[in-house]
Amino acid sequence: MPLVTSTEMFKKAYEGKYAIGAFNVNNMEIIQGITEAAKEVNAPLILQVSAGARKYANHTYLVKLVEAAIEETGLPICLHLDHGDSFELCKSCIDGGFTSVMIDGSHLPFEENIKLTKQVVDYAHSKGVVVEGELGRLAGIEDDVNVSEADAAYTDPNQVEEFVAKTGVDSLAIAIGTSHGAYKFKGEAKLRFDILEEIEKRLPGFPIVLHGASSVMPEYVEMINKFGGNMPGAKGVPEDMLRKAASMAVCKINIDSDLRLAMTGTIRKYFAENPSHFDPRQYLGPARSAIKEMVKHKIVNVLGCDGKA
Ligand code: G3H
Ligand code: 13P
Ligand code: ZN
Repeated sequence: MPLVTSTEMFKKAYEGKYAIGAFNVNNMEIIQGITEAAKEVNAPLILQVSAGARKYANHTYLVKLVEAAIEETGLPICLHLDHGDSFELCKSCIDGGFTSVMIDGSHLPFEENIKLTKQVVDYAHSKGVVVEGELGRLAGIEDDVNVSEADAAYTDPNQVEEFVAKTGVDSLAIAIGTSHGAYKFKGEAKLRFDILEEIEKRLPGFPIVLHGASSVMPEYVEMINKFGGNMPGAKGVPEDMLRKAASMAVCKINIDSDLRLAMTGTIRKYFAENPSHFDPRQYLGPARSAIKEMVKHKIVNVLGCDGKA
């Protein structure tokens, strides 16, 4: 099976009241852990690559690794650019075999966001590629950009119909209180489901995307802290909130930090217990297994897309 777009996945997810996991990938072990998990529970997948991941691992390596995962698993997999920040970057990914791109114009004034997003949509659609746009600004860290809480802004439901109509985007990322990274909430976790509900009313049947959706799983934060790390106050989105979002219009849930934590916690533990080992396979193997178990848990207990491939 070749790479697929997310069109069919989102249609089924919307109707079935579940969500597809969009997991960030940076190397072979991460790709293997995620795709082995999805295969075991027969789940469709979105594997997403940030500009930073592309810089780190190289476009061609990542595409070939994802193609290898398709050959090994036979799963429907969509390869997506995460947080594209320019037409040129999106074009390069479209020309280089991605089946989906995000153009993130969320930091731009409304009209400029529309203009840039439409430019990407026109090119992408002419090549059979789908596009995710963004309205509203999440707090947190992406690549080198750190959006402070003061600069974050919830999505304004009054803008969504015009944005979708004028740009032609295939899905829309919104800001309802999630944020990127491992420190999402200082106090109690709170998401604006009222905004999501209002957007759902205005865009019936239209797939919504939730970024910053790691739950910052306490077991891995504890592991990191126990074995020499220091992450006091790390906190994510409670999984019951993610389940609720998945049962609403949210069809794509983005997870990166939970992968990082599972990998780093496992490697820290490994070295604490085996200080003289130095063969990378000895510590990357358990890290890959931890990713696999974590992703399986997300698919089955949070996203609800098991059995939907
Ligand atoms: O939203 C950001 C993702 O977690 C990707 O992070 O840009 O550091 O690869 P990155
Ligand atoms: P987390 O940092 O919550 O994993 O969010 C990832 C994300 O939104 C990638 O675009
Ligand atoms: Zn994001």
